[in-house]
Amino acid sequence: MILITGANGRPGSAVVREFARHNEPVRALVRDPAKADALRELPGVDIRQGDMLWPETLHDALTGVDRVLMISNAGPELLETQCTFIDAAVKAGVEHIVKFSGKDSIEGFDPEKFRSTRSHEQVLRYLLASDVRWTILRPSQFMQVYFEEVPDIVGSGEFRLPLGDTTLAPVDIDDIAKVAHSVLTTSGHEGKTYAMTGPEALTMADVADRISDAIGKPVIYRNVTTEDKKRDWRDAGYPPPRANAFAQLFQERSRLGHSTIDLSTHEHFGIEPTTFAQFARRHADVFRGNAHYLPTPG
Ligand SMILES: NC(=O)c1ccc[n+]([C@@H]2O[C@H](COP(=O)([O-])OP(=O)(O)OC[C@H]3O[C@@H](n4cnc5c(N)ncnc54)[C@H](OP(=O)(O)O)[C@@H]3O)[C@@H](O)[C@H]2O)c1
Repeated sequence: MILITGANGRPGSAVVREFARHNEPVRALVRDPAKADALRELPGVDIRQGDMLWPETLHDALTGVDRVLMISNAGPELLETQCTFIDAAVKAGVEHIVKFSGKDSIEGFDPEKFRSTRSHEQVLRYLLASDVRWTILRPSQFMQVYFEEVPDIVGSGEFRLPLGDTTLAPVDIDDIAKVAHSVLTTSGHEGKTYAMTGPEALTMADVADRISDAIGKPVIYRNVTTEDKKRDWRDAGYPPPRANAFAQLFQERSRLGHSTIDLSTHEHFGIEPTTFAQFARRHADVFRGNAHYLPTPG
């Protein structure tokens, strides 16, 4: 049996949907089954409740599992959550853990300057030292993070980020889900790291143009200082640790400036890379403010 953790979240739910699309059974770990209605509607999904921080809650979810896709939030608890989960999984007899990590598409990105990247590297060292086979997925920024800008796009026709003319190479979560599905259902991936970005290095003005084309309305990117953006995040109710983490991330990105594209994983698995224009057209209703999206967690 294959278990997907973080199954109520953005990448986790996309991987579960990918299994359903293939008509293949999969087990989904969620903290709150009341939030799992969308998963429940899919064929072949076995929903189990548990908390990765509390091993005693995981017995039901881990029994009979040989492979796991391990996903949890990028927040301050990532390190403890994933190390605790690795121990529980190994104890329960799981043979192979696929760790969902992250990379920045900008060459030279310094993990010491961004907590989430730092935590992923610490978990990676823990996983490598554990008695279990492993594979690492390292996607760049998700295209879906631009859903965060929907309230501003709908309200004022602009979005504000402290990025100047820095380029990023965001990747569609659905492309990542296809890779994750292949890694979990075929052999030969032990000890491998699969990095992936989207197919284009885009300035925020490029992103605005593509959203604008998709929704048929002008959308403008406005460059702001990190301090201004932190104020925006605070006004929008972001908890301070989240606003600080984002500020660190954007500062490091601005310092370096330009992204490198890596489509080797798409090519390896025969997946056509989704462009931002295709992504924006597919989600035009979200960018118009007419459809629900999963926000970045606090
Ligand atoms: N954002 C990006 O652009 C990006 C890019 C590359 C990689 N990543 C990585 O992708 C991962 C997930 O993305 P995200 O942070 O955006 O999160 P997300 O979509 O919210 O998914 C995380 C899921 O993990 C679950 N979870 C967290 N702690 C848990 C626990 N103790 N027990 C069980 N489930 C738990 C959450 O459950 P609930 O639903 O109950 O909260 C949530 O469903 C992170 O590790 C991040 O570093 C992100």
